[in-house]
Amino acid sequence: MRERIRRRPGSPHHQLTKNSKGVIAVHALLPDARLSRLAGARVLVTGGAGLIGSRIMRLLTALGADAVALDRMDAYPHPVNDLFGLDPARVITGDVCQSDTVRPLVNDAEYVIHAAAYADVAACTRQPAAACAANVCGTQTVIQEVQAASAARRMVFISSAAVYGDPAEGQGPVEFCEDQPPHPISVYGNAKLWGETEARLRLTGGGVGFCVLRYFSVYGDPQVPKPGSHSWMVACLAMRAHLGLPLLLHGGGHQVRDMVHVEDIARATVLALVAEQAAGQTINVGSGIATSVRQIAERIATHYPRAQLIDTPRPEGDPLGGYAATARSRELLGWRPTIAVKDGIDRYVDWLQANPRAIPEWMRSEAAVAVT
Ligand SMILES: NC(=O)c1ccc[n+]([C@@H]2O[C@H](COP(=O)([O-])OP(=O)(O)OC[C@H]3O[C@@H](n4cnc5c(N)ncnc54)[C@H](O)[C@@H]3O)[C@@H](O)[C@H]2O)c1
Repeated sequence: MRERIRRRPGSPHHQLTKNSKGVIAVHALLPDARLSRLAGARVLVTGGAGLIGSRIMRLLTALGADAVALDRMDAYPHPVNDLFGLDPARVITGDVCQSDTVRPLVNDAEYVIHAAAYADVAACTRQPAAACAANVCGTQTVIQEVQAASAARRMVFISSAAVYGDPAEGQGPVEFCEDQPPHPISVYGNAKLWGETEARLRLTGGGVGFCVLRYFSVYGDPQVPKPGSHSWMVACLAMRAHLGLPLLLHGGGHQVRDMVHVEDIARATVLALVAEQAAGQTINVGSGIATSVRQIAERIATHYPRAQLIDTPRPEGDPLGGYAATARSRELLGWRPTIAVKDGIDRYVDWLQANPRAIPEWMRSEAAVAVT
């Protein structure tokens, strides 16, 4: 189990933690004086009950903001939302596609983070109509209400590295730069690109500022994989290892991902609300480091020595991947990740070992079938 040990002397904004192997890590808590501007600010977080949204909510609350989450609450079976540790009094259950629901909340907000989405690449490919409803129509509704709102100062739209698409076959991992032409290869990526364009079209030059963040691969406790997904490899592989199931490496696990811990993601997102230079910008949120899925599996296997790694075919739409250009996030947000991938994976495994009930029923059933 992870043990919280103390605040770093002289820095109220950092916390030291020690994992089960005695390794000490430093985590930024409230890392930046600019964030003090959010004390007392009214912030709406759509999708605020999801993995990332709930971590953003937690950070906003720690900063003294008056944060409210709007969420449909159906992305996970109920117990998963419980793991995210949200204060139910701060959650409004509703759909971002409904103007009547969104309007009063946006009207009351000084800042809006639009993170609600059908947030799984494979599920969007299987159900394009549902993906467009949430990720296009819902985004259109939020942007329209933000444009009309009088109190709103800035909206942050959560986009994805999926807008970049894939490097050419045979090319090694490539760096994805914000200025290169986007080339999405999935319904999910296409819908995110539409949202970016719509935010720029509607909000440029108006009274409300905006910023687009392109998250790379987000991981970290308490992430719980969704059935049929080929994303969220840390959670998926760690849970499979925990259950004694083989670690399936689609396409040999040579795809790379730029892994960013959810805690670092939350900080980047909140900084995008207040960083002056972020206004009107599109910014990658990644580490700039390519990690292969195989490397992730191998790190997890150090905790589960009996884990078997098995190569399987690469599913359609599973990108070969790349890594983020990081100059803009450093220069415009003053942000860089604080949690190294290996530490974040170890931290996830520690959490999983302390919270095995987080493993979803559909994955347990697979383990039960494998045994019989
Ligand atoms: N997890 C990643 O690796 C990653 C990478 C890039 C971008 N993103 C983006 O980050 C955001 C948060 O993703 P997450 O990983 O926390 O996923 P998540 O599924 O945990 O959270 C998304 C939340 O949005 C809510 N939601 C979906 N449709 C809605 C609707 N129509 N109205 C209201 N709420 C709705 C869901 O109930 C869920 O709680 C999403 O926009 C996602 O596309 C995530």
